[in-house]
Amino acid sequence: MRRRDFVRRLPVVTAGLAAGSTTILTGCSGAPYVVPTVGPASLSFTSTALGPDGDAFLQSPGMDRPVYVRRLTSGELVAVLAACTHRGCQPEPAADRLLCPCHGSEFTFTGDVLNGPADEPLLRYEVEESGGEIRIRLPGDAP
Ligand code: FES
Repeated sequence: MRRRDFVRRLPVVTAGLAAGSTTILTGCSGAPYVVPTVGPASLSFTSTALGPDGDAFLQSPGMDRPVYVRRLTSGELVAVLAACTHRGCQPEPAADRLLCPCHGSEFTFTGDVLNGPADEPLLRYEVEESGGEIRIRLPGDAP
């Protein structure tokens, strides 16, 4: 494992706490890391796992990058793959946007590019919420 990958996963390893079938962890940005239930072409977790800003990173073993989920001020839930379209670094929430720490690209929470060098939006997923469960629909293979 490369040092960068180890450091990236360190908060996940050291800050775990179990809540039902969903593991909740804390990342550097303050958004919790949640291990979702993986279903056929979907990820699901309980809505109570969203952090105080209404967001969470979903990451389970085998995923190169997490899925970032956020409840917008309108109440709409959005989900994007947290992989910058410039060179693949993980954008982090910063105030009203996602900021890539590598070269400074900025994205809206819905994945649209605000500032480059990235020139393509983040991959966006459909989100459903029912009975306290949030489900991310994945097209084909898991991220
Ligand atoms: Fe995100 Fe370069 S990898 S700006």
